[in-house]
Amino acid sequence: MSGTPLPPLSPLAHPASALDELHFAPRLLMGPGPINADPRVLKAMSSQLLGQFDPQFRRMMRETMVLYRQFFETQNDWTLVLDGTARSAIEMVMLSAIEPGDKVLVCSFGRFGQLLNEIAQRCAANVRVVQAPWGTVFDLAQIEAAIKDFSPKLVAVCQGDTSTTMLQPLDGLGALCHRYGAMLQVDATASCGGTPLPVDAWQIDAVTAGLQKCLAGPSGAAPITLSDAMARVIYRRRHIEDGLQPAGYVPGAGQRIASNYMDLAMVMDYWSDAGLNHHTEATTMLYGSRECARIFVQEGLPAAYARHAAASRAVAAGLQGMNLKLYGDQANKMPNVTGVYVPDGVNGDKLRAALLNDFNIEIGTSFGPLAGRVWRIGAMGYNARPDCVLQTLAALEIVLAAEGHRFTRGAGVDAAYGTYKGVVI
Ligand SMILES: Cc1ncc(COP(=O)(O)O)c(C=O)c1O
Repeated sequence: MSGTPLPPLSPLAHPASALDELHFAPRLLMGPGPINADPRVLKAMSSQLLGQFDPQFRRMMRETMVLYRQFFETQNDWTLVLDGTARSAIEMVMLSAIEPGDKVLVCSFGRFGQLLNEIAQRCAANVRVVQAPWGTVFDLAQIEAAIKDFSPKLVAVCQGDTSTTMLQPLDGLGALCHRYGAMLQVDATASCGGTPLPVDAWQIDAVTAGLQKCLAGPSGAAPITLSDAMARVIYRRRHIEDGLQPAGYVPGAGQRIASNYMDLAMVMDYWSDAGLNHHTEATTMLYGSRECARIFVQEGLPAAYARHAAASRAVAAGLQGMNLKLYGDQANKMPNVTGVYVPDGVNGDKLRAALLNDFNIEIGTSFGPLAGRVWRIGAMGYNARPDCVLQTLAALEIVLAAEGHRFTRGAGVDAAYGTYKGVVI
């Protein structure tokens, strides 16, 4: 047979283990996400299943909308949770808002900017990409010049690009886009919950997220919020599938959305009072999503951001105390993930394996040009706590010393511990 060979798939060494009960070593997940879910979220997810049109379930959906409006600091009616991981939400918004040939400007400063480009291409958009070097972010003048030159319908950007650990300032970008007749889509998967994202104040038209980072849940559900303008652009393309069309149904004037599953207009019909059937709701994920937002709102936005900032300061101080160099523009660093160079003479993957195998602690490497050169240490959501940060740094000190890296033993953990003095968490 000719053609592209299928990818390798090796057989399970001990097939009988498939019948074993699940039993995992208790990992502390301190990479760029996923992180350990808050036990409250897991408990909520074990609530009994309900039918997706049960009045109790419909009420729970509305409560979830209320909570995520608070989380996103928005009055947007169309604030809901999509079934699927964060990238499905990016794609669902883009595919539903962008008609083939529409212009999309992607502002890319890392691998997840590349993903925005990839998704926009697959939506058959006319895409232009502006790039900021990895480890930096854009200033608004650069984006304005590109908008002026290209006149996009949509500008897409990450708030935090996890691959580089950089945080794009967004204040003013929504207003800038609107001045030129463009809408703004933000991927806030990696940053929301760890750093402010006042959606209305910043005039963002679409924000997509995931649970598995600062929201302290598992991946698999994607909170989103849409401005009225964005909701109208999408709903203009409403074409209800056969068999569900209500009496008097008139399809929208816009082109039918190319995917049935990713059709956000139909998902809006499901979340609306009309309650039109679409996919079978992922009940359990919605329970988890609701609990993630409830935890966040109960803690209070300022307190949650302060907790992430404190963890970030401690991680940075600890790493520098170990004679390590932080990666990227520190003035624009995400508060929940820290990039740090692998020091000369140390094998980054071997050290990560030692952390995992000997200490049950997971940290991340990075992608593309940074693979093997930069580690990424996350302290977010349920794990943005002093104990998690200090345990990770203490273990890192031990494995770094074992690898021959030169530094004063104890200096990193002491420096990190010192940053927490007087801080009320
Ligand atoms: C910034 C950013 N965007 C998008 C994604 C994709 O999210 P998911 O893996 O949940 O689809 C990630 C995942 O790490 C991310 O960090």
